[in-house]
Amino acid sequence: MARWLLTGGAGYIGSHVLRELAASGREVVVVDDLSTGIASRVPDGVPLVEMNLSDSNLVTVMRDYQISGVVHLAAKKAVGESVERPLHYYRENVDGIASLLEAINEVGIGNLVYSSSAAVYGEPVNGEVGEDEPTVPTSPYGETKLVGEWAARAVAKARRLEGGGLSNVSLRYFNVAGAGAANLGDTSVANLIPLALRAVTNGERPQIFGSDYPTPDGTCIRDYIHVVDLAKAHVVAAALCESDNPGELSEVFNVGRGQGSSVREVLDTVSRAIGRDVDPRDVERRPGDPAVLVARTEKINADLGWEAELDLTAMVESAWSAWSPKP
Ligand code: WQD
Repeated sequence: MARWLLTGGAGYIGSHVLRELAASGREVVVVDDLSTGIASRVPDGVPLVEMNLSDSNLVTVMRDYQISGVVHLAAKKAVGESVERPLHYYRENVDGIASLLEAINEVGIGNLVYSSSAAVYGEPVNGEVGEDEPTVPTSPYGETKLVGEWAARAVAKARRLEGGGLSNVSLRYFNVAGAGAANLGDTSVANLIPLALRAVTNGERPQIFGSDYPTPDGTCIRDYIHVVDLAKAHVVAAALCESDNPGELSEVFNVGRGQGSSVREVLDTVSRAIGRDVDPRDVERRPGDPAVLVARTEKINADLGWEAELDLTAMVESAWSAWSPKP
């Protein structure tokens, strides 16, 4: 029986990945420092080790549970905060994966799935990006995610030179939204859909950051992906790693729907989901926002046989079902 360590498994995305990994027949052990994670998201019967990745006991945990692979999600993920506190992000995200890779090497673990981000692309000229698009992150957050990809790849290469291997897959998430259950919603309220739901809850008008972009309705276009679809992508990535012996593989995949939605379309969907007009307000552009950022998904479709199944309506409706308190 394969047993995977899941870092950040008490987080919003991690708790969904946990359920999909378990549903695939793999055993899961969660490591989470609970800085933003919530222990109750980890179901009974799944070990939750409250620990920071810099803890020297990480190796002991990996050995005790006979871990065969790691899904690494534990990280800081707020773009704006990363601009204000870059060193905090470098410490948490870069030191985090460095410590993890040290432990992986020490124990001789051969599989790693890493949570990367569309933020590695920065502000591409053409908004539809394939994995071979130049990576030019425009925030410390995006930089640390890219460094994580490089670190995994470099460690894998070094292991191969020693005759071993570390099969590793980096998943570049686009705009993650929705919830797989009422108790698994995104509590961070940092992205468009939760911000809109909070505004509605508070009797306020959601804001549209810029309506003069060169897009059909003037608002920014993004690729929204349901967190349950995203979680399933981790399972096929883990399976790819497991099938790769003796660890030749270092791959990067976009995880999106390959379909763009504008801010206005998202807010219209919110209006329909909650059953009343949210009446958004146009405000200034937010600095650093590309007009369009949509994934090309041919690679993950073809190589992993993965395709998103849930649409924007499912994302917004499930986010609303998981939202509390409602007005
Ligand atoms: C979406 C769109 C805003 C709030 C970021 C990271 C990315 C990933 C996802 C983590 C943009 C607009 C937003 C609001 C608005 N994060 N907007 N009013 O910036 O596309 O992506 O989160 O890995 O790496 O960069 O997401 O949800 O902030 O914004 O008009 O109140 O909604 O301008 O066009 P973003 P977002």
